[in-house]
Amino acid sequence: MSSYLDRIGAGLVLANPEVFGFDYIPEDLVGRDEIQGQLASIFSSIAHPEGTGRAVVTGPVGSGKTVLVKRFCIDIERHLAEKRNIKTVHVNCRNAATASRVMQKIVQDLDPGHPDRGLGVGELLTSLRRMMKGQNSHLIVVLDEVDHLLRQSGDDVIYKLMRIDEDRDKAGTLSLILISQEQVLDLLEGAVISRMGRTNHIRIPPYDEQGLLKIVSQRRDLGLVTGTCPDEILDLISQAAAPSGDARQSIELLEGAAKRAEASGRSSIESKDVQKTVVTMPTNVDSMALEEIPPHAMLILLGICRRLKRQENVTTGEAEKLYNVVCEEYDQDPKGYTTFWKHIKRLAQEDIVVTRTAKSEVGRGRTQHISMPHMLPSDVARRLETLIPTRLRR
Ligand SMILES: Nc1ncnc2c1ncn2[C@@H]1O[C@H](COP(=O)(O)OP(=O)(O)OP(=O)(O)O)[C@@H](O)[C@H]1O
Ligand SMILES: [Mg+2]
Repeated sequence: MSSYLDRIGAGLVLANPEVFGFDYIPEDLVGRDEIQGQLASIFSSIAHPEGTGRAVVTGPVGSGKTVLVKRFCIDIERHLAEKRNIKTVHVNCRNAATASRVMQKIVQDLDPGHPDRGLGVGELLTSLRRMMKGQNSHLIVVLDEVDHLLRQSGDDVIYKLMRIDEDRDKAGTLSLILISQEQVLDLLEGAVISRMGRTNHIRIPPYDEQGLLKIVSQRRDLGLVTGTCPDEILDLISQAAAPSGDARQSIELLEGAAKRAEASGRSSIESKDVQKTVVTMPTNVDSMALEEIPPHAMLILLGICRRLKRQENVTTGEAEKLYNVVCEEYDQDPKGYTTFWKHIKRLAQEDIVVTRTAKSEVGRGRTQHISMPHMLPSDVARRLETLIPTRLRR
């Protein structure tokens, strides 16, 4: 009776779904050793009784700012467990965009029984000071997406937190880490960065295709049943996410493709699972101007699409043969290699296909592998089959 539910929990592909959760923090961050080192060196004095640190972390969407800082806080608490009692409060300012909300969140994280109503920022700061009196305790306050706070409430509470040890004989109560998307913070508050110390500013770059590939490969190993996701699928995913450089997007693609494969009762992810997931993503660049490309580029693309329905990529050599077959079908004289190659480059420039030099053949000739991460080859083929006859008649 409930056979339609059989696939739920069957675990054909997804072994550990929690690995794809938004709050999952991997033990190791892939390819961020240098940046982790920078952050550690800013906090080099924190092992000492009065040591504190201040850092500003900026970077584009999905560049791993939040996970970097969360990983660091967990690691440092553990690392110094014998020396200092370090606690961390992570405030997402999107949900706490005023000074009092930020202070409430900090105080209540440290003491869930603390009364939450009617206290002003000053009183909450006093409470916080009192709580931090204990021997050897140190608090790291992380203000994530801090631009929301700055925009709504200004930077006053940040300075108050920075001065929490004033008028006291003992220093070293509190460290502060601010996180924001690059453009936003630069635009809003150059002054905040300079008060925090320019040398404490860590700028995180977006991931490139290689970086994304390593990240999804780690998630595959952690989250999927062994043997369900071939390397070519990971290539396709990292190609699809490369224009944004967003690790979150690449991880969502892997999860989405895995779910699609499971839903169709397969135990292996195929390229169409990725392409169908890409198409549904809000960031998808789907306004590809297929109508605008020259007729022979369409013929080339049609040949490629037909083959990509069945495999992840085709070589340029195969693509040329497929093009010749399509030309015959439409009764056209095929253009020479130079023109063929020029069209391929144009298709790549417009993000309709992606070309990569074959891994095994770097330096020998120019065999390229052509793939289509952003669209479903069968959809594109169907559109081309209706477009081509009218274009050839012009
Ligand atoms: N180096 C990495 N190794 C493993 N996973 C990573 C790495 N970088 C990012 N991720 C993962 O990618 C996703 C996005 O990272 P994160 O949320 O930290 O990005 P962000 O820069 O804070 O984005 P936003 O600007 O949207 O807040 C998370 O699931 C995170 O675990
Ligand atoms: Mg974040």
